[in-house]
Amino acid sequence: MSSRVIVALDFAGAKEALAFVERLDPASCKLKVGFELYVAAGPALVETLVGRGFEVFLDLKFHDIPNTVASVCHVAAGLGVWMMNVHASGGMAMMRAAREAIEQAEQQPLLIGVTVLTSMDQQDLAGLGIERSPAEQALFLAGLAREAGLDGVVCSAQEAAAMRTRFGTEFLLVTPGIRPATAEVGDQKRVMTPSDAIRAGASHLVIGRPITRSGQPQAVLDTINAELRDLT
Ligand code: C5P
Repeated sequence: MSSRVIVALDFAGAKEALAFVERLDPASCKLKVGFELYVAAGPALVETLVGRGFEVFLDLKFHDIPNTVASVCHVAAGLGVWMMNVHASGGMAMMRAAREAIEQAEQQPLLIGVTVLTSMDQQDLAGLGIERSPAEQALFLAGLAREAGLDGVVCSAQEAAAMRTRFGTEFLLVTPGIRPATAEVGDQKRVMTPSDAIRAGASHLVIGRPITRSGQPQAVLDTINAELRDLT
């Protein structure tokens, strides 16, 4: 079974990212390219990573009018990425447009929705005129994403159990905020270990600093993969 671990490549440029990636076996993880690295290194880096055999999650959280999001999803699919995402709060028409654009692409990445940013609390939502709790809003937006035909959502591991119960076994739940029991928590407030997150229903784990800041990233990955091997 391919690894459920997605390493967050939070590096400032291509040079640093590629030097790090050389130390990883593409069979043991997937890679996440987010805003910082993408703005610094662009599509060429994404294509290089894909060319080296890595499955790449392009984490650019598209959010715009349906026509624009459909166009960018089509272009991004052409990079050969494994997964990409849009904000579910962009609405049903936007998500459906993204889905259709990907279906017409030659290579079809998985498409997932961002629900509620974990930096937002009840007060932040109330400030936007949203009366639901962050957890309720995340479930609501995940429901819209599913209805729009998306493959899953990004959510906190704390929300994974409720999402799994409501949306069944096929829906992808990609969870950040993961810390192996021995790792430093850093600035993440609510963390879960890899095996607890998978038990709670996560399908994929986004893990950054415990791997990227380790002197032995492949060894950390091997330990996490071994921990997850026997879990369904
Ligand atoms: O280093 P760490 O494991 O905390 O990295 C987590 C990654 O997941 C980062 O790229 C961060 O931007 C991303 N992320 C997150 N929390 C979210 C969504 C994304 O930590 N709610």
